[in-house]
Formats: sequence, structure tokens, C-alpha cells
Amino acid sequence: MEVEKIDDEIQQLLQAHKHTWNQTYNFINSMSLKCAIELGIPDIIHKHAQPIKLSQLISQLQIHPTKSHAVHRLMAILTHSGFFTQHKASQKDDEDDGGDPEVAYMLTDACKILVKDSPYSMVPYLLLSLDPIQMKPWQYLSTWFRNEVPTTYETAHGMAIWEYASKEGRLNSLFNNAMLSDSRLVSRVVIEKCKWVFEGLESVVDAGGGTGTLAKAIAQCFPNMECTVLDLPHVVAGLQGTTNLKFVEGDMFQAIPPADAVLLKSILHDWGEEECVKILKKCKEAISGNGKRSNKVIIIDIVIMEDQKGGEDDDELVETKLCLDMLMMVLANGKERKEKEWAKLFFSAGFRDYKINPILGLRSLIELYP
Ligand SMILES: C[S@@+](CC[C@H](N)C(=O)[O-])C[C@H]1O[C@@H](n2cnc3c(N)ncnc32)[C@H](O)[C@@H]1O
Repeated sequence: MEVEKIDDEIQQLLQAHKHTWNQTYNFINSMSLKCAIELGIPDIIHKHAQPIKLSQLISQLQIHPTKSHAVHRLMAILTHSGFFTQHKASQKDDEDDGGDPEVAYMLTDACKILVKDSPYSMVPYLLLSLDPIQMKPWQYLSTWFRNEVPTTYETAHGMAIWEYASKEGRLNSLFNNAMLSDSRLVSRVVIEKCKWVFEGLESVVDAGGGTGTLAKAIAQCFPNMECTVLDLPHVVAGLQGTTNLKFVEGDMFQAIPPADAVLLKSILHDWGEEECVKILKKCKEAISGNGKRSNKVIIIDIVIMEDQKGGEDDDELVETKLCLDMLMMVLANGKERKEKEWAKLFFSAGFRDYKINPILGLRSLIELYP
């Protein structure tokens, strides 16, 4: 074989090797992040309010002294993945310590939402997603491809996620807290940027509204609007409403209380086509009672953009949406949808028109008209 051809083959082989290892070990980024959160590293750095030297960080961590040497390695991978920045500690500090120059760390913007007390903390979301209960089904994905069981989750746990959450208190609270954290962040954006979508409505039902974070924000912003949160008994039992917010235990496949609008946040991506059409038909019934033209369904969910109105997704967004699509498949037999797949659902459920507003970062706000 010519030398040049051998060189090309070797290069290809090494490139393939590198790519395979990179993808194989991707989970190390996630698990390192989880570890840093469990150790409280973002909280310590946030509290320090200026670059924190490695030794200062170590001194505040509740770790065994024999593990101190490993902290800079955890910080190195998380610096590389964009959660911390590394700085040289000021020369004065080094002189004062009489030691070698030391690195210091700060939080990046991405890490600021991983501080536990941050008003928009995503820590509960991350702790749910990386909990062993939620990670276990991934070990069963190929088994699921070969069996007849509807979801990978059921293959792993013997029951669907909603049933498991109703029986396993730890999962129920992990799940509800995770949804609360996501809804807290999304509520802020919805109220600041998309308030118009609720204007003129006198009543809204948040179907599958969890513990009511988004509905509470809407109820506060629109004190004259009647807001209702509908969810399964294990989610809403015992929750206290306010003058214009109430919690109702129920099943959205059976009935959704009547209102001017039904809100579905992160609901339809949990379900397959047939179930989505059933839910949407129940929404249509709920908003059709009073015959107002302004009535609608408001959906907050991912739309996979190809090259339409919202433009194409960038690489990070494409990868995140592909991951979420797999996540929905594994957890609940749901999926993330392209615009034409959404449209098919809407028209199958008897709606006449829709409008996609790609204004919520990862997600879009979709208005659906009966
Ligand atoms: C992914 S969570 C979304 C929660 C909330 N909308 C949010 O975004 O924070 C899905 C919710 O649907 C609820 N759910 C599942 N099946 C339901 C049903 N048949 N009827 C009503 N709610 C249901 C779950 O309990 C859960 O709270």
C-alpha cells in the first residue's frame, strides 16, 4: 500500500477513535456537574462574589481531606464545559500566601442558574434528570426496541412514569420540584415578554399544570382572571389556592374544566399522536362552552425548526432538542415535533388555525384557535 494511503487510513482511524471516545464519555460532563451541585460548589463561588482561589474553595467544601487533591480536576472539566471560568489569583494574594501562583474560579452565566438560592435555579431539574430512577431506563433502551412494552420507562420500572410518581413519594417530589423550577424560569419570560397572549381572557385552565407555578404567576399578573390548575391527585392534593386560583384533581383525558383558554405547558411532548389528539379534543370542548371568538389553547413546548419563520436552530439547540426527543421517547413514549407534525395534530383534533411564536428559547408559544 502506498505510504500516502496508509497515512490517510491511519488519520481516519484516529479521528474515529477520538470521536467515539468523546461521545462515549459525554455522560461524564453531566455527572461531574451533578457532583459539583451536590457539593455546593456554585453556591460557594457565588457567595464569595469574586474569583475564589482553589485553596479557598477547598477549605469551604465538606469533603474528606484525602480528596482535596481531586477538586481541581472536577473544576477543570466543568471549566471546559462552560460552567466556570479560570483566572490567575491576583499577584498580591500569591505574595501574601508566599506560595505558587494559584488558579481562581468564577461562575459563568450558565452556572448562575445552578446556584441553589437563585430565583431561577434549575438545580431541582438537573437533580431529577440525573437521579438514578430517571437514569435507569437508559440501560433498557435496546431491550425496549426488542419488546412490546410501550415505554422504556415501563421496561425498566414495570410501570409508566405517572403511576410510578403516584406510588413513589421521592420521585413525586423530585418531579414536582423539577417542574416547579422550569416553570419559575418560563413564567418570568412569559409574564415579561408574552403577557399579551392572556389579554382579554377571563379564565384559564392550566391542564397538567403541576403544582401551579405558572398558573400562580398568571393569577398574580391578572387578578381578575379565574385560574385553575388541573392535575393528577398525587400532584395537587392538599394544595391551597388563592382568591383567583384553584387546584382541581382530575384526568385531562376525561374532562378539562370549562374556560376561555387552556394552557398546556410541557404536556403534549409527553404523549404519542393518539393521546395528543384526545387531550386536544378535551381542550376544544373546554373552551367551546361560551362561544367567545377569543378563546384558544396556549401551548408551551418545543418546535423543531427546520428553516421556517423562526429560522434554523443552531448546533447546540439542535443537539438539545434531539436529546429531549430521545428523553420523551424513553420516559413516556412522547416526542418533540416539527411544525408539520404539530399542524397534523391540531387539524386532527378539529382546530382551524394556529400560530407559532418561537420566543421562549428552547420552546415556542403556540396559540391554537378552535
Ligand atoms: C412534564 S409535567 C408538566 C407540568 C407543568 N405543566 C409544567 O410545565 O411545569 C406533566 C404533568 O402532566 C401531569 N399529568 C400526567 N397525566 C395526566 C392526566 N391524565 N391528567 C392530568 N394531568 C396529568 C403530570 O402529573 C405532570 O404534572
